[in-house]
Amino acid sequence: MNYYEKAKLAFESLRDRKDYYILAYESSCDETACAVVRGREVVSSVISSQIDIHKRFGGVVPEIASRNHILAIDSITDEALSRAGIELKDIEVVAVTYGAGLLGALLVGLCYGKALAYGLGIPFIGINHIKGHIAANYITRPDIDPPFIALVTSGGHSSIFKVEGFLDRNIEILGETRDDAIGESFDKVARVLGLGYPGGPAVEKLAKNGKNTFSFTRPFKGENHLDFSFSGIKRAVINTLSNASARGEEVNKEDLAFSFQLSAVSYVVDNTIEACRRTGIKRVLLAGGVGANNYLRNMLTEEGNKNGVEVILPDVKYCTDNAAMIGVAAFEEIKAGALPSDLSLDADPSL
Ligand code: KG4
Ligand code: ZN
Repeated sequence: MNYYEKAKLAFESLRDRKDYYILAYESSCDETACAVVRGREVVSSVISSQIDIHKRFGGVVPEIASRNHILAIDSITDEALSRAGIELKDIEVVAVTYGAGLLGALLVGLCYGKALAYGLGIPFIGINHIKGHIAANYITRPDIDPPFIALVTSGGHSSIFKVEGFLDRNIEILGETRDDAIGESFDKVARVLGLGYPGGPAVEKLAKNGKNTFSFTRPFKGENHLDFSFSGIKRAVINTLSNASARGEEVNKEDLAFSFQLSAVSYVVDNTIEACRRTGIKRVLLAGGVGANNYLRNMLTEEGNKNGVEVILPDVKYCTDNAAMIGVAAFEEIKAGALPSDLSLDADPSL
């Protein structure tokens, strides 16, 4: 029997179990992460962040990210295993993010994971990064299952999904951004405010003492869809700053950060609540790096309460990129009947 036939048989025998270890990797951007999960439980989770390396460039430099993944991946594997108190021989599945993300960065985790799985003679599965973000909610709330609405807000995505199961055919896009992602707009606004990289947490901090003194027009007002656009809001912030500077005036940056945050956050919250209204689904999951933003967490919870919608929030540490969420997503896929990935699986930057 060849490797793939054996992998398929292994997946069949794992489908109804939740006591086996998955070794998971995430290397789509600037975090090299490895985790051991068992079912929806995180046994260990290690993240080697490159933020300090990319900071001086004001953003992630793809080639530098790939090279640092190569440097880190072997030692974080050892660390994840030792923190879990297990050895490679105890692992039954290897799971790796294969998209979306930076091509060279994805390939590091993908090739390492494939080689490891082949060497150990165990199945390998490629995971969609967005599904990983959604699965982060199961770590915090192992008791929940679809159907639900998922609001995914990250550096690369702003999407609202109707989730009726974990396989692709059970997930429908109800709305997505037509230009920048919400996290990207936080990062760009941070840059023009002189806050550096990564921008989201810095904007949130600056906005803390700000007031709503600038108003930005909401894109697609009056249109009957749930798509987003963030480039106009970002542009409005930039114009506010440059117009003031041309007039020799000072802008209150705390107020500008607050007004921007309010406008971006209320936009995704309103569309998500509208998605619940349209589908009749009364449960929302928050996912992705911007999900770490407290202003968003609070507003979504409040609006959910007002509208009879239960809001599930993942732990802040599982909102930004990590491998535990990739492992749990793999567990969900196996349970739902997915096949293992073939060893020829390619990285897909725009998955
Ligand atoms: O999910 P993630 O770690 O990586 C991607 O898949 O893109 O998300 C990163 C994004 C960045 O744009 C970052 O600025 C944003 O999430 N972010 C935040 C906060 N923490 C991270 N945005 C707003 N407020 C935060 N506290
Ligand atoms: Zn992410």
